[in-house]
Amino acid sequence: MSNSPVRVAVIYYSSTGTNAAVAQEIAKTAEAEGAEVRLRRCTELAPQAAIDSNAAWKANAEATAHIEEASPDDMEWADAVIFGSPTRFGNVTSQLKQFIDTLGGLWQQGKLADKVYSGFTSSATKHGGQESTLLALYNTVHHFGGILVAPGYTDPEKFTDGNPYGTSHVDGQGSLPVDDTARAAARVQATRVVKVAKAVKAGLSG
Ligand SMILES: Cc1cc2nc3c(=O)[nH]c(=O)nc-3n(C[C@H](O)[C@H](O)[C@H](O)COP(=O)(O)O)c2cc1C
Repeated sequence: MSNSPVRVAVIYYSSTGTNAAVAQEIAKTAEAEGAEVRLRRCTELAPQAAIDSNAAWKANAEATAHIEEASPDDMEWADAVIFGSPTRFGNVTSQLKQFIDTLGGLWQQGKLADKVYSGFTSSATKHGGQESTLLALYNTVHHFGGILVAPGYTDPEKFTDGNPYGTSHVDGQGSLPVDDTARAAARVQATRVVKVAKAVKAGLSG
């Protein structure tokens, strides 16, 4: 049985910093739970002029510039992948989707299967598409042959944030920063992903 730490890749896109903050909370928690973690951001596709026109977007781009960009190698490396993306019209962002669309080669070789997957998101408004975004993301997990680990209501904290599909936050168009409720949900999700990934890894190598 392998004693090496479970490897978790947190792969996210964020324009204005909400998902970046949740990604960092998840990465920190997974590390505290004993995982080896790669925190990776998806390559920006928007033109610099668009970024510069939005103060929060510009600030987040600068604050996260030191975070490595996601590559297919991060997927191959990981035992568990936690994807994050803001809601865009009820769906995942093109930036995360573009990353996912580079994974055909790994998929063809069966290298995306048998890993644990989970996801997080945010929206401007309540009922703004958080669940549809996570479910759309999870369509891809089925194609990978992945093991989907949603938080469900497996912890009392989940009755506070109320989203069994994954961590989510309503940002009120940037007026509501990531709060304790979302951070608690992020910690529950990260802890659960590491726990299940350890069991899957041990089971597959034993
Ligand atoms: C093109 C576009 C589409 C969006 N679509 C939605 C939407 O359908 N519902 C919603 O509530 N918010 C929507 N939003 C708002 C973002 O999802 C929200 O502000 C999110 O928390 C931003 O996350 P970030 O700070 O990580 O970039 C949209 C934003 C943009 C730019």
